Amino acid sequence: MALQALDSLWLSDWSRVAIGGRSAEKRATALQSLGERASAYAVDITDRASLAAFFAQTTSLAGLFTPAASYTTGAFQEGSLETSEALFQAKFWGQYWAVYAALPSLFPDAAVVLMSGAASSCRLGAPAYAACNAALEGLARVLAVELAPRRINCLSPGTTDSTLWQQRPAQVREAAYQQWCKLNVLQRPATVEVQADAALFLIDNTDMTGNTLYYDGGYTLR
Ligand SMILES: NC(=O)c1ccc[n+]([C@@H]2O[C@H](COP(=O)([O-])OP(=O)(O)OC[C@H]3O[C@@H](n4cnc5c(N)ncnc54)[C@H](OP(=O)(O)O)[C@@H]3O)[C@@H](O)[C@H]2O)c1
Repeated sequence: MALQALDSLWLSDWSRVAIGGRSAEKRATALQSLGERASAYAVDITDRASLAAFFAQTTSLAGLFTPAASYTTGAFQEGSLETSEALFQAKFWGQYWAVYAALPSLFPDAAVVLMSGAASSCRLGAPAYAACNAALEGLARVLAVELAPRRINCLSPGTTDSTLWQQRPAQVREAAYQQWCKLNVLQRPATVEVQADAALFLIDNTDMTGNTLYYDGGYTLR
């Protein structure tokens, strides 16, 4: 089950799955692959009114997965709002307010999986991006206490061969993959299929809470 197929926001009560995203085309593609048990709604994770409308339609949730994000990264010394504050707006605050909007719909034993990235732990440049990922991992730890017995975990992947990279020019993508292969132990990017498996593990495992699962081919060991 690929993240790409699940589009950008994924919820389940295990008898039905609701997906959300900005793109009608991507929602239609996801519905085709998920079949009759799935439904899809428009949502912009950076817009609180849109999140409220989305969760008003998706009650009784056993799980919430929030991988949606769209941002650009850059060096500290560029002094760019786009690669600093706007990045947090898109990736951190989007997930923060998604959990808040979902709260009335989450079963007491529901599981939430936030999405960070292994840049939280090792140097890759792009300090606001690293800090944003670390902030999400901290958020999972603190929400796990406040929202218990609901379980809150974070998935922290390394470079993954997703549409994020596939839609970039081949030269840029290959250069990034080559750099990544030098930095991680397994010397390859991850796939979206195994990344989705890791998210499902965090939703299913009833003892996991407040954890970050580094799904990064050993990048954080370097
Ligand atoms: N791929 C990697 O190498 C990698 C590594 C570490 C961490 N991550 C993290 O994993 C997460 C998912 O990344 P990905 O590689 O799967 O990216 P992706 O292929 O670009 O998928 C992100 C999805 O989110 C949707 N989206 C973006 N902004 C949205 C918004 N405001 N509201 C609703 N939907 C929105 C996008 O669709 P539209 O833009 O069409 O709406 C797209 O379908 C991100 O948080 C990323 O930082 C990825």
